[in-house]
Amino acid sequence: MKTKDKVLELLKSNSGEFLSGQNIADELHVTRACVWKCIKALIDEGNEVDAVTNKGYRLKVSPDDIDIEFIKKELLDSNISMDVVYYDEVTSTNDVALSYVNSTEQNAVVIANGQTNGKGRRGRNFYSPKASGLYMSVLLNRGERLKNTANITAIAACAVSKAIDDCLKLEDKTRIKWVNDIFYKNKKVCGILSEAHTLLEDDGLSYVVIGIGVNVFNPENEFPKEIKDIAGNLIHGDVTQYEKIRSKICVAIIRNLFEFITDDEKRNKCLPYYREKSMLDGSYIKINSFNGDNKYAKVIGIGDEYQLLVEYENGTEGELTSGEVSVAKY
Ligand code: BTN
Repeated sequence: MKTKDKVLELLKSNSGEFLSGQNIADELHVTRACVWKCIKALIDEGNEVDAVTNKGYRLKVSPDDIDIEFIKKELLDSNISMDVVYYDEVTSTNDVALSYVNSTEQNAVVIANGQTNGKGRRGRNFYSPKASGLYMSVLLNRGERLKNTANITAIAACAVSKAIDDCLKLEDKTRIKWVNDIFYKNKKVCGILSEAHTLLEDDGLSYVVIGIGVNVFNPENEFPKEIKDIAGNLIHGDVTQYEKIRSKICVAIIRNLFEFITDDEKRNKCLPYYREKSMLDGSYIKINSFNGDNKYAKVIGIGDEYQLLVEYENGTEGELTSGEVSVAKY
């Protein structure tokens, strides 16, 4: 075996931790200059190696590459017919999915390892670093099933929350914060942005793109300071036991979504499931309005159409059908 390959093996066996040049040199009975030459050759071959003064070298390991063939096969086995498209990096999977509408009438899912311009609600950005999250957009394209897509966004939240619980079997279950944020241990681990298009001639929606961003692993550079108090990720510590986990969550989300949309019985179970998972009951919330005219209220439940039922400070009751709320700190 060439020295360069032995260096690669050593870095791999050190599971993403730094190894000093001296340690590698001692282990392989070569000079540090030789180690550096090997590292350069490994980088030229496309390996991602961090070289940091006083620390040494570290191979960037991706604990979980998205396995697109696995996803295609699992969907086929579940009789779900849709185009499956994968990119290592895109601006926004929602934008890519929306652009597909002109070229296909099929349903599709666009999956990315990272996004450079992930879109959040209200024009915000969705932090989408490579390799740590699952970024996917499901395009439901003009099908019969789109005749009845009321509450799609709440149903998508049920599909995602259930998929995460079933795939990860974590210590705690995920919760849903009205209307479709998913929380785990009081941190937001998933956001959903649905974009729909209606033709006035049609009896319903023409197509809808459901964009889902799940923070699975800890991002390499941590969350940016603006969101670090709110955002969290699902898996901490030893990641090796979670083989293909992003791919498995992706498949489970799509399966749940299709079941909830097409199977009336399963769809009817969504509302009680959503109520059970809803994390705001009893909380005092701030109702954030676009014009800054914020109101405060206490959450008293979830209505039959997934509205947020509230009691305002003056004792009157009301319901919210859209918008954004946050837990009030007073
Ligand atoms: C939010 O919480 O404000 C919604 C975030 C939605 C993010 C997902 S990531 C995949 C898809 N592509 C996007 O550009 N946005 C959605």
